[in-house]
Amino acid sequence: MYHKDANISQNGVRCKNIYFFLNTTISLDNIAKKEIYILAIESSCDDTSAAVVHNGKVLSNVVSSQTEHINFGGVVPEVAGRQHILYILPVIDEAIRQAGISKEEINAVACTVGPGLLGSLMVGLSTAKSLAMSWGIPLIGVHHMHAHVMAHFADDPIPSFPFLCLIVSGGHTLIIKMDDFLTVQVLGTTIDDAAGEAFDKTGKMLGLSYPAGPIIDEMSKKGKPIYEFPKAKLANLDYSFSGLKTAIMYFLQQELSKNPNFISDNINDICASVQHVIVNTLMEKLIKAITSTGITHVGIAGGVSANSALRQALIDASIKYNFTPHIPRFAYCTDNAAMVGVTGYYKYLERRFDQLDLKPSARMDLLQL
Ligand code: KG4
Ligand code: ZN
Repeated sequence: MYHKDANISQNGVRCKNIYFFLNTTISLDNIAKKEIYILAIESSCDDTSAAVVHNGKVLSNVVSSQTEHINFGGVVPEVAGRQHILYILPVIDEAIRQAGISKEEINAVACTVGPGLLGSLMVGLSTAKSLAMSWGIPLIGVHHMHAHVMAHFADDPIPSFPFLCLIVSGGHTLIIKMDDFLTVQVLGTTIDDAAGEAFDKTGKMLGLSYPAGPIIDEMSKKGKPIYEFPKAKLANLDYSFSGLKTAIMYFLQQELSKNPNFISDNINDICASVQHVIVNTLMEKLIKAITSTGITHVGIAGGVSANSALRQALIDASIKYNFTPHIPRFAYCTDNAAMVGVTGYYKYLERRFDQLDLKPSARMDLLQL
């Protein structure tokens, strides 16, 4: 059965030509109808997620977060891929059920293609391809970091362009400038570890479970930033967090040699100090980007944008530097399919469809939107 909008059987299009046909005809039809439903899939790391987005607004967003990695200090790729296989179909079913629509109403399937863990991406993308093919609707590949920024366009008020955004996740730390929904320019990036990695690796040294970011955030609320850690000094808008990781390791070794209970005795202050230096480092470069570009709509996105100190720091800076701050709701900070669906919607409007031979990419340039 082909999707009702595809009209493929009526035109007698052969299988190998379907994709070309989909790219040219369906979209115009549905854009004219102005009722666009996107089914979105996200499986780039350890969250299996599906969402339904209607005309750019989120109807449902189901996330199944894998707990199997908690004691490993990081995501185990092989385990992540296997768990996605178990959860992907129930999660999609639930997203469609919660959206209160029928499968026949879906106009396109959007899916994260990268960057991420290859085995994890493959599960989501293969499922998306199968659904697009069997329902006769377009496939839309989405860049994971683009999706994180697009989380800002899920709720009103949306940012105005140009929009400056700090994207901070477990694998990336980027300052980007967005000139429209689909045009992104990278102004700065990390030359080594990501900010989320700095949180997670510190957590591992402190004996906290993975992901440590939210735990450090909570513990920091009960502590004070009394320990000083060095900040990397790079001249441009780039970041570096690997030196901080080493400094924390030597600091802990030194203190533990004097007091074997140093970590448990001072865990809240250690967390507050680490969070303080990470947030300050992130904000310093973001402020540099704001003052050098003069952009007045500025946001944060990605898993680390759930951090309470970073959220507060952006609000404080907006008063001092006179810009409009944009902070996504918590559910759209860490990995979720809603942000993929919103991105998919704006790509749909531009008819940016993909062929069914689309391949997942572990590494992916943001220019490859
Ligand atoms: O965007 P995300 O869910 O996945 C990736 O694309 O990597 O980001 C996950 C990262 C992890 O490093 C996690 O520790 C961090 O986001 N994170 C936080 C907080 N919540 C999640 N870091 C600091 N404070 C938080 N509240
Ligand atoms: Zn992410």
